[in-house]
Amino acid sequence: MIARISLIALVVAVVFGACMPATVFAQTPLKVGLILPMTGPMASTGKQVVAAVKLYVAEHGDVVAGRKIEVLLRDDANAAETTKRYAQELVTNDHAEILAGFGLTPLAFAAAPIATAAKVPMIIMSAGTFVIPQKSPYIIRTSFTLPQNTAPIAVWAAKHGIKKVFTLVADYAPGIDSETTFKAVFTANGGQIVGEARVPVQNPDYAPFVQKAKDSKPDALFIFVPSGEGAAVMKQYAERGLAKAGIKLIGPGDVTDDDILDSMGDAAIGTITSMDYSAAHASPENKAYVAAFEKANPGMRPNFMSVGGWDGMALIYEVLKKTNGSAEGDKFLAAAKGLSWMSPRGKITIDPNTRDIIQDEYIREVKRVNGHLWNVEFDHLPAVPPDGKF
Ligand code: PHB
Repeated sequence: MIARISLIALVVAVVFGACMPATVFAQTPLKVGLILPMTGPMASTGKQVVAAVKLYVAEHGDVVAGRKIEVLLRDDANAAETTKRYAQELVTNDHAEILAGFGLTPLAFAAAPIATAAKVPMIIMSAGTFVIPQKSPYIIRTSFTLPQNTAPIAVWAAKHGIKKVFTLVADYAPGIDSETTFKAVFTANGGQIVGEARVPVQNPDYAPFVQKAKDSKPDALFIFVPSGEGAAVMKQYAERGLAKAGIKLIGPGDVTDDDILDSMGDAAIGTITSMDYSAAHASPENKAYVAAFEKANPGMRPNFMSVGGWDGMALIYEVLKKTNGSAEGDKFLAAAKGLSWMSPRGKITIDPNTRDIIQDEYIREVKRVNGHLWNVEFDHLPAVPPDGKF
């Protein structure tokens, strides 16, 4: 008798136990650890990404595939050791199932080993150095790469009468990526590099470098500085009279970042850049995006960092629909590979081989339209791969 009761108890326990994971699973919130610089000189990136993440959740609801999405925001103030510590704490103590954000390349590098050890998907919403996805098999990128954003302007410049260029980049991984790509593509298309400079990332003083560029008498000054730094460079470009000397300003579009472009003044007019996103992009998806973003964040205009955050959330939602709410590392990655959707910037795809983003690039010119400065797109390159070789 006792044996029979315990057998029944055992059967009940086994059946119930087998059902448990599904029941508990459907009710467990899914925590997304979002690590970004929210204070310090790079805070504009964090603010843009967070605004877009919040907007995505507000528009799509906070439940997907039966799981409530909880975003746990941490401010790393652009300190790699802090990023790493938060990534570890989020995974171990808070049981975050996804890590996201990563405002700058060194911050992404710092967290990558934690994603690998914990088998947690790590979504790069901002950083742009080419090698980042190679740092962990759990990394997926929804931002951009510097080769992707640089190669198109190198080809454009060479084909539009720009023969001599001085390159000026921020002295860290994405700057080196951008410089290397520009030099290779521009010279392969017949251009000549007449001088180059790398500017420190911490407390940069652009004045001596911009003067050196002017003295080398190039047709154009090529610039990469991280998002938020454009205004300081533009000030030197204006004060030192490069435009008057006939020296054009070109680069990937970080220098004419939509977040601060309108405050740069007339000096920015005529700057030609290549980039994946402009707030002026004339698609119905982008018009709706910009209107909703500006309504939710008065006084702010979305920039290219914001769409990395928006699409990072789109990726999470689309993957969870495919996996029935599981964010288990290997399942998540398998479901993410090859996904494609319409972003405010155009169609984007997660390359199944590299887990990196394939996206359209645009050539744009800064113009004053209805009293405001915009990156006005005038040429379009579809589906540019992460290595920029289109
Ligand atoms: C980066 O650190 O990877 C980075 C930051 C800001 C940018 C581009 C790249 O505008």
